[in-house]
Amino acid sequence: MTISFKKITLDDVESLMGIEILCHSHPWTHKTFSSCIDGRYFGEYAQTTAGIIGFYIGEHVAGEATLMDICITPDLQGQGYGKILLLRFFEQAKSLDNNMAWLEVRAKNISAQMLYINQGFTETGRRTGYYPSANGFGYEDAIVMKKTL
Ligand SMILES: CC(C)(COP(=O)(O)OP(=O)(O)OC[C@H]1O[C@@H](n2cnc3c(N)ncnc32)[C@H](O)[C@@H]1OP(=O)(O)O)[C@@H](O)C(=O)NCCC(=O)NCCS
Repeated sequence: MTISFKKITLDDVESLMGIEILCHSHPWTHKTFSSCIDGRYFGEYAQTTAGIIGFYIGEHVAGEATLMDICITPDLQGQGYGKILLLRFFEQAKSLDNNMAWLEVRAKNISAQMLYINQGFTETGRRTGYYPSANGFGYEDAIVMKKTL
C-alpha cells in the first residue's frame, strides 16, 4: 500500500487529536497540539487510501531537532509504520539543517524505546519522576536519548 506524507496544519489538529488521545495516557490538549504547528515546529502525518496511519511532530532549534511526539493509530501498531515515520522525521530534520536528534521517552514505554534504540538513539540521561504515571499512581522517569543525524 502506498504511503504518502502530508505536512500538518492547524486544520489537521482535530483529526490527529483522535489518534493522540488513543495513544497516550496523558495526551496533549488540542491547545498544546495547535501550539506545535509551524514556526520552529515541523510535523507530518502518514496516510494511505484507507486513512491516517499516524504522525510525528518535531521541533528544531540551532541545528538540533527534538522528536516531540510520534503516534501510530493503535490498530496499526507493530507493523513497521512507526519506523517509517521515524525515518521520515530524520529526513525532514536533516533537510532543515539539523545534525542531532533528541527525544524523551517514558521509562516504561518499551516499544517506543526499542524503536528508538534500533534506529541508533542512545540514552544520555534520566529525569527522575518526570511524568505522571500511566496508571495514575505516582510518577515515572523520563529517559533522554540522542542520535547524530
Ligand atoms: C511507539 C510507536 C510509535 C511505535 O510504532 P509501531 O508502528 O508500533 O512500531 P514498529 O512496528 O515500526 O516497530 C519499530 C521497531 O520497534 C520494535 N518494537 C515495536 N514494539 C515493540 C515491542 N513491544 N517490544 C519490542 N520491540 C518492539 C520493533 O521490533 C521494530 O524494530 P525493527 O524494525 O528494528 O525490527 C507506537 O507503538 C505508538 O504510537 N505508541 C503510542 C504512542 C507512543 O508511545 N509514542 C512514543 C512517545 S515517546
